[in-house]
Amino acid sequence: MQIDLRNKVAIVTGAGRGIGNEIARTLAGEGAIVVITDIRQELLDEAGAEWKRNGWNGLQLLCDVRESSDNKAVVEAVEKAFGRIDILINNAGVASGARVEELAEETWDLNMDVNLKGTFLMCQAVIPVMKRQRSGRILNAASFAAIVPSIGGAAYAASKYGVEAFTRVLAGELGAHEITVNCYAPGMIPTGMNRFADRTEAEKGRLLDTLTLRRWGSPRDVANLICFLASDLASYITGTMIDCSGGKFATQMPWLAHREP
Ligand SMILES: NC(=O)c1ccc[n+]([C@@H]2O[C@H](COP(=O)([O-])OP(=O)(O)OC[C@H]3O[C@@H](n4cnc5c(N)ncnc54)[C@H](O)[C@@H]3O)[C@@H](O)[C@H]2O)c1
Repeated sequence: MQIDLRNKVAIVTGAGRGIGNEIARTLAGEGAIVVITDIRQELLDEAGAEWKRNGWNGLQLLCDVRESSDNKAVVEAVEKAFGRIDILINNAGVASGARVEELAEETWDLNMDVNLKGTFLMCQAVIPVMKRQRSGRILNAASFAAIVPSIGGAAYAASKYGVEAFTRVLAGELGAHEITVNCYAPGMIPTGMNRFADRTEAEKGRLLDTLTLRRWGSPRDVANLICFLASDLASYITGTMIDCSGGKFATQMPWLAHREP
């Protein structure tokens, strides 16, 4: 069995850095034509240089996923350049918060607008293209926070629970068109978003104690899952959320097994 993404056209949002960047690089390595979008031009410039170095096909497009006109412009540019869109990865996200009593309205709005509304708007822009093709794969970044949320994470968790509900509804609406829609839940992947790797040893230990595998995830762990879900091999999987968290809280006290001799 081989994952074959040759000549598939993929859009990855928020792919300038972090998990999205690794997803884009992994898809490109498997032969896909990958369009990277991000809100930050300097990250797109870096990605563009790598694409050039490796001889990968694709585009780097500035896009704020909160803006419907930006998302539509991306879809138009990709259709014009490559004639189709096979894969959409709604990766762009932010994570900020505070306990509810202190949570600023702007923080709530930012999490909702980028994580949830951005996913909705980008899907809305791509759907007509995938319907015409009678094929497509849509993958939305949820989070382990949509399984068990954290204190101080009300805005983030609510937005990611929203992504899961949105995913299931959209899968239902698009099943008749042979378009699959799923979301995925990374657990703890050290990136610029969460700075897990910069915490004190004691804090890191407490976080790792929640993981069955007791090690951080890597962006590549998520990218590997995405490659499978975006491929023809996953054509019978839709309307679900896949946990990619190293077994976070798979049992009540996963650390016990790591302390045994
Ligand atoms: N890192 C983790 O442990 C983890 C866990 C669960 C879920 N996730 C989800 O995975 C996704 C990627 O996370 P990451 O850790 O790589 O974060 P990151 O901060 O490293 O990368 C996020 C990217 O999104 C871009 N972005 C932010 N706002 C945008 C906007 N309005 N429009 C377009 N692009 C925008 C940023 O510029 C950045 O390149 C997010 O949706 C996040 O919620 C991450």
